[in-house]
Amino acid sequence: MKKKVGIFYGPTGGKTEKVAQRVRKAIGEDMADLIPIKNSKAADFDKYENIILGCSTIGKETWDAERSKPDWDLFRPEFDNINYEGKTFALFGLGNHVTYAAMFVNAIGFIGKILLAKGANVVGRVPTCEYTFTDSEAIVGNEFIGLPIDEDFEPELTDRRIKEWVGRLKTLFQ
Ligand SMILES: Cc1cc2nc3c(=O)[nH]c(=O)nc-3n(C[C@H](O)[C@H](O)[C@H](O)COP(=O)(O)O)c2cc1C
Repeated sequence: MKKKVGIFYGPTGGKTEKVAQRVRKAIGEDMADLIPIKNSKAADFDKYENIILGCSTIGKETWDAERSKPDWDLFRPEFDNINYEGKTFALFGLGNHVTYAAMFVNAIGFIGKILLAKGANVVGRVPTCEYTFTDSEAIVGNEFIGLPIDEDFEPELTDRRIKEWVGRLKTLFQ
């Protein structure tokens, strides 16, 4: 990896932001920028060829309900305007594999499937056997399309998960 990474994440102020900071640290602080997806536009992606998207899953309402307008939901129309050519994407997502075992890290799937539909190059998939859960929208083929992180019930695994995943990304990013 020679080029800088743009880490676009949301929501801000919670566990997703803390994990985004830890991912940046694992990459190397001089090699990664942290950018809240809130108020970002597609054009903000132009600066980067290596892009990490970070999200959390807050139920079905995240994408459907009118009363709930979280950061990624507001950004969603902008996916149509990103220039995907020459870019490599990876995703991580916060979830809870105990309380929400049947909807585990669904938001990774919602965002990942938008990227795939756009023909984007998405790397950094993770084997499902490393997690306990019953169902997830984030599974594509036999793998998670991004890295699930559970700071609610498995915080002790987060450092190792980030380290392994970032290590692989460094060989896959440009
Ligand atoms: C109301 C609510 C709904 C949630 N729904 C899900 C869910 O459907 N799937 C999941 O994996 N985690 C779910 N979670 C767990 C969150 O994704 C998890 O706590 C995450 O770390 C929150 O990140 P944040 O602090 O950045 O918002 C939910 C949490 C809350 C409070």
